[in-house]
This record gives sequence, structure tokens and C-alpha cells, in this order.
Amino acid sequence: MQDWKEIYRAKLTTAAEAVKHIPDGARVFFGHAANEPPVLVDAMVQNYEQYKNVEIVHWVPMGKGEYTLPKMAGHIRHNALFVGPSTRAAVQEGRADYTPFFFYQSPRFFTDGTMPVDVALVSLTPPDKHGFCSFGVSVGGTKPAALAAKIVIAQINDQMPRTMGDSFIHVSRLTYAVEASSPLPELGGGSIGAVEEAIGRNCAALIEDGSTLQLGIGSIPDAVLKSLGDKKDLGIHSEMFSDGVVDLYRKGVITGAAKTLNKGKMVAAFLMGSKKLYEFVDQNPDVLMLPVDYVNDPVVIAQQNKMVAINSCLQVDFNGQVNSESMGAKQFSGIGGQLDYVRGASMCPNGKAILAMPSTAKHGTVSRIVPVFAPGTTVTTTRTDVHYIVTEYGAVDLRGKSLRERARLLISIAHPDFRDELRQAYRERYGNEEAGT
Ligand code: COA
Repeated sequence: MQDWKEIYRAKLTTAAEAVKHIPDGARVFFGHAANEPPVLVDAMVQNYEQYKNVEIVHWVPMGKGEYTLPKMAGHIRHNALFVGPSTRAAVQEGRADYTPFFFYQSPRFFTDGTMPVDVALVSLTPPDKHGFCSFGVSVGGTKPAALAAKIVIAQINDQMPRTMGDSFIHVSRLTYAVEASSPLPELGGGSIGAVEEAIGRNCAALIEDGSTLQLGIGSIPDAVLKSLGDKKDLGIHSEMFSDGVVDLYRKGVITGAAKTLNKGKMVAAFLMGSKKLYEFVDQNPDVLMLPVDYVNDPVVIAQQNKMVAINSCLQVDFNGQVNSESMGAKQFSGIGGQLDYVRGASMCPNGKAILAMPSTAKHGTVSRIVPVFAPGTTVTTTRTDVHYIVTEYGAVDLRGKSLRERARLLISIAHPDFRDELRQAYRERYGNEEAGT
């Protein structure tokens, strides 16, 4: 067999040269979140006039999102699988698209003709002594897309942590390799105030020793983790995790000893956090980075012991329908893995699916618990899937409850400033009955 070093050397090129090989009409996948390869993306953006009808798809954008600028029309169009701050205006103004699907199904869609990938632009570590590069902080959807793509262009980044798990690709699978060192985008922890602390405590009260946790991103998951210091033998099986998990692991609270699958290991599809997190996961055999058709598969999730999924949302209506991704008809974020985990945790015999949010938005001027959604609002988690809803005022279990009971329970955890108007809406719907305290 040919020495991998020779194979690798033959693939080395510059970013500008590599992106010339993207054909007109191609669908180009970018590595997810902190796996986006900045040097390759910049080269595409700088040379945008060379492309005709190229589509860029990816989940969480952590880069500048310049491929959504109006001047890209006819050359590059973005099709978002998750919307973030740098791409939101383009999606909301119709210059870019949004396509919803379950995260766990994406590897299948990349190969079964649902969403074929022509070119994958990814970030990888330099090769190890066997010629394998690691996808680092984002493996879940990124590795399956790269394996499905006809052309793989990799930024070989010596700042990418070498994570363990099913996180490797051999240099022989790459089409072009561009060596360039770039710092990883970092995500600061969300700000934790009194409201988030109370939500964290209310969620923590539902988490038993030996639970396996999935935590989404932002200040609420961070607040929950801060309230778990006195728990024992927690495990992590989570689409992603961030810095908060590192402290609990170091304290010996997260051991994974009670997990059913991948005992003793923290399992994730991708990671977003600060340097502290990226250093922690580098060559750490206790962290398994795995593809998303395993990590997010509800059937896999349901097998974990006491699976608890904690995610955030924007609004809940009286029936328990949950909107986590739109402001009215305008797409705000995306479904991500929310329903994968809500369903997995609900299917788990001793599991809990928690959706947590502050009771108000817009500096206290808007209640997030509403009688009905505005027209066009997305239902991310249906009323049939919903389980626990948590605000700073408490936690309610909506499963097995009638629509009338749900409305009353939800009013009981709404902000007190809005309870009178919510009770009035309850009476209009259900008659002049006790509408909760
Ligand atoms: N009406 C009007 N505005 C609202 C609102 C509502 N009901 N709910 C929130 N907002 C505003 C907030 O005030 C805030 O505005 P500001 O930044 O000007 O203060 C903004 O919208 C964002 O709200 P916030 O609750 O702070 O969002 P977040 O950053 O905590 O993210 C989700 C929450 C739900 C958008 C995010 O968790 C998400 O996208 N979830 C779906 C995917 C998912 O759950 N994945 C899980 C696996 S990782």
C-alpha cells in the first residue's frame, strides 16, 4: 500500500485553488458549528463570482455568514438547516432558505437521495501516524456528510482538538487538503441571573442520581448544571455539550457509571464552548464523539437509564404545543435535535423530557405562556409529545393531562403579571371555572 504521507502530500493545495473545483449547481456542505473551515469559506466568498447556482447547506453557523449577502444572488444561495445570528436576516428576508428535518435522520438523507451532498468543506486535525485526521469538535452530522460527498475539501487545522470516538477519516478519503491554522470559534456561557438560577433549580429537582442527561445550549443548561453539584453518578448522552459539563466531571458528579449504553463515557455529536472545553476533549478517551444517527436516534436515547432531556423553547400555548424556533411565521433558529431527545426521553421508561424557558420575554413585556400562537408559528414539539414544562415559577407535567388541565397547570407557572389575562382567556375557552391560583 502507498505510504499515506505521499497520498497526503499529493492532495495539498491552496484554499483558492481547492474551491475552484466546486462545480456550478453543486450542493456544498459546511462542517457543523465550530467545524466550519474559515479559510475555505473565505476563499469561496472572495471568489463568489466564479460560481453559478451553488447551494450552501449547514446547521449552526458560527462564522460571518457572508455567503448570504445580497450580492451573492445567482452565484451562491444558502439553505439553512439551522438559523443563527449571521444568517437569520437572509432567511427572514427570503434571500436564503430553511429546511427542517430531524437531526438524527440526516446521515440517511445524505445518502438516500433526499439531500445528496456534492462537496463537503470541513475542518480536520493534522493526520496521526496512521494517516487519520479527526473531525474534532463536530462529528455528528459532519462526518456522515463528508463520507457521502463526491468531493471532500479539508482545512487541516492544528488548533482542532483530536477527539476520540468514531471521529476519524483517513487522508485517502480527502480530495484536497489545505493546511491553515485558525482558532476555533468560542461560545461564552449565557448570562445566569436570578430567573435562570430558579429554572436551573426547578429542573435539578427533577433529576435523580444516576440519570443520563442531554442538555441543549445557553444559559438555562448552564444554570441546570450549576444546580447539580450534589448529585451522584450522572451520565452524559447529548447532542452537544459545553463548558459546564467539564466542572461536574472534574468534581466526580459525572461518572457515567449508571449509564446503560457507553458506560463511563460522555457521548456527544458536537461541542461548543470555550478553550477550556476544547482542551478538555483533546485526546480524552472519556469523551466519545459519534455520528448523529446514533447519538440522536430516539431508540438509542430511550435505552439510557433515567434519560433526562433538557431543552429550551420560546413559547408554549394552552394545549402544551411548544414553539422553539420561530417568531410568528419568521424562522428564528431550527428544530435541531429537540424532538429527537423529547421523543427518546419520553420513550425511556424512567425518562423525562423537559422544556424550560423564562416565563417572559422582551424584558418582561411578553408572556411566553399564551392561549394561542400567532398565525404561522411553528410547532416544534407537539402537544402529544410534550412532557415537563419548567419556568422560574415551577415545573408542570403535562403528560396524561386533559387540555383543560394543561391550561390550568401552565397558568400556575406563568409570570404573575400575566396570570389574570391568561385566566380570562381560560374562562373564555372553558367557561367560568376555577382557572388556577
Ligand atoms: N416572544 C417574543 N420574543 C421572544 C419570545 C417570545 N415568545 N421568546 C423569546 N423572545 C426573544 C427574547 O427576548 C430574546 O430577545 P433578546 O435577545 O432581544 O433579549 C430572543 O428572542 C431569544 O430568546 P432566548 O430565550 O434568549 O433564546 P435562547 O438563546 O435561550 O434560545 C431557543 C432559545 C429556543 C431559540 C434555542 O434553544 C433553540 O433554538 N432551540 C431549538 C433547538 C433545540 O432545542 N436544540 C436542542 C439540542 S442542542
